Amino acid sequence: MKRESWGSRLGFILAVAGSAIGLANIWRFPYLVGMFGGAGFVFVYFASLLIVGFPVLMAEICIGRAGKKDPSGSFAVLGRSKRWGFMGKITIFTGFWVSAFYSAVAGWIIGYLYEALKGNLTHFRSTADSMAHFEGLLASPAFTLVTHFVFLGISAGILLFGIRRGIERANKFLMPLLFAILILLLIYGLTLPRAGDALTFLFKPNFSALTPLAILSALGQSFFTLSLGQGTMATYGSYLDKKENLIFSCVPILIMDTLVSIIGAAVIFTIVFSVGMSPDAGPGLIFHTLPVVFSQIPLGYILAPAFFLLIAVAAITSEISAIEPSISYLIDEWQVPRKKAVMIVSTLIFLLGIPSALSVNLLSNFTLYGVNFLDGAGWLASNLLIPLGGLFATILAGWRWGAKASIEELSYGAEEVMAKNSWLKGYFWFCFKFSAPVLITIVFLHVLLS
Ligand code: ALA
Repeated sequence: MKRESWGSRLGFILAVAGSAIGLANIWRFPYLVGMFGGAGFVFVYFASLLIVGFPVLMAEICIGRAGKKDPSGSFAVLGRSKRWGFMGKITIFTGFWVSAFYSAVAGWIIGYLYEALKGNLTHFRSTADSMAHFEGLLASPAFTLVTHFVFLGISAGILLFGIRRGIERANKFLMPLLFAILILLLIYGLTLPRAGDALTFLFKPNFSALTPLAILSALGQSFFTLSLGQGTMATYGSYLDKKENLIFSCVPILIMDTLVSIIGAAVIFTIVFSVGMSPDAGPGLIFHTLPVVFSQIPLGYILAPAFFLLIAVAAITSEISAIEPSISYLIDEWQVPRKKAVMIVSTLIFLLGIPSALSVNLLSNFTLYGVNFLDGAGWLASNLLIPLGGLFATILAGWRWGAKASIEELSYGAEEVMAKNSWLKGYFWFCFKFSAPVLITIVFLHVLLS
């Protein structure tokens, strides 16, 4: 079977940006910033992106581009052993695992988009009202199962069409849509009362709330937001041509991802501050706090669907990227035709997502150490599987395949930039070999010992 490839550089950039920009940017980042006291957290988050997130992103893309196979194949070739192939398989499994619970949560967003379109999110007087509405919806197994199914169905529908006609075309349409909605919401947010207070909260460093947990969360966030450790970037890299300048294409991706997090947080905080509410509501921020605000501010009935459409788009482009490694595995290793591979993988993901979808209603009493299935699935992914996948990639790039070979791969197509900026080699060398693996190991030790 002939291996597919990206049709253009823009297609690749938007696909990777689409993968990176997701719930982690528009949902998780704002509530982490809200919980951990604002700009101090943002500062540590930037640092983690630079010394861990970005280098691991580059390592994973290089592994894919050099190996030209699904992650298990590329890891096996570059690590020169089946054992490394097995580590590649673990990263594919992580993408599979993430896509199942991600779909269950993104389903709520689809449900909220539908609610917003029906005008049901603009009549709340208090957070207690909006919370009751949210909990009422989630209490219905039909709601959580159907929305999980619809979200996954849209994602699988895109994947059926393959790389250029599916993933690339969808991202070329959806990402500009996402940016347009985001910018419009930002402009609106900046015109609201107390916008200045919201921006101060976001940008003025306050290091007092920077607990060790905040620092670990910043590190974890940099991983999750760049879709690392889950086979995605190695798979997307494997569809990439050697002539592509990775520095030119990946730096804009990092900037876009960061901008969307910052603008997303600015949008949410300006809206929340405008009615004097607090941004530290945690994961419920967008489901509890925002609908109350939408009920109180002018144009709330337009704002609400626009906001949930924004998040739905961001989630779809991330979901497809978490599923694609499993599809590419079936195509490359088992010669399964794409359409069949998509059907098999999405059916399995739907099944695996059912316990997460039902964990907020039928299975809510089904807990382990007090944690329900959905939270447990998220915990396992963020704290173990994803960092483990990232660790495998940096050890492969920095030590087994070797920093020299991986930096040589990174330089193909980027010879001029690398020659003009000689510090880049040192930076990647240091990050591949030391900063990334050491910091990821610290996260592990913290998880295992706490
Ligand atoms: N990178 C994806 C997100 O941010 C997984 O949601």
